[in-house]
Amino acid sequence: MGWIVLGREIQGVIFDLDGVLCSTDEFHYLAWKATADELGVPFDRDSNNRLRGVSRMESLELILEGRGGDTSLSLAEKLHIADEKNARYRDSLSSLTPDDTSIEVVATLNALRTRGLKLAIGSSSKNTPLILERLALTPYFDAIADGNMIQRSKPDPEVFTLAAAKLGLSPMNCLVVEDAVSGAEAAHAGGFLAVCVGDAATKQAGDVNLTTLSGIVEL
Ligand code: BG6
Ligand code: MG
Repeated sequence: MGWIVLGREIQGVIFDLDGVLCSTDEFHYLAWKATADELGVPFDRDSNNRLRGVSRMESLELILEGRGGDTSLSLAEKLHIADEKNARYRDSLSSLTPDDTSIEVVATLNALRTRGLKLAIGSSSKNTPLILERLALTPYFDAIADGNMIQRSKPDPEVFTLAAAKLGLSPMNCLVVEDAVSGAEAAHAGGFLAVCVGDAATKQAGDVNLTTLSGIVEL
């Protein structure tokens, strides 16, 4: 008998990246905070939680809601603001090294691989390849699905459906690990079980809500 979680036989685990395997969610927050300050829009860690799992351009639209949905900005101006945010964010990423990968993350990935599970990334971020390289995490994954490969970001299930297809597994047989409420919604929309940590766990958005990532190996 394989690994049974909530009555399902689990053969693969699909991990969100920002806020699950690394603390780049804080870099996203700080970069958006600088953008919001420039735009004169109120923005704090609580409002930032709405941006988790959401694509760059959709995140900007959520921030602009803070000044009444601002219809005065052209698409070109919005693209420019998003580019500036991304440049600021990538500046922070340039400081990352493999030492920034926590011992808990490495131990958890190794424990799951030792059980014969297939592992994938399912992230909305177009910076996924860069982050995985800088943290030396790429070799742990059998498949990567990221923001460069999809049309619709979370809460749409597209990135997780793609990750499962790349693993050759049915959503029924995969867990999705998420820190975003939008990510838990995406998992459920795609027919996956959602294991949540961080903000999504605090909000009880998952089928399982953990206080720490390593708890997954105890399920
Ligand atoms: C998600 C983050 O992983 O990626 C979001 O949770 C972010 O906050 C999204 O907006 C897109 O990231 P990027 O790196 O493509 O701007
Ligand atoms: Mg996340």
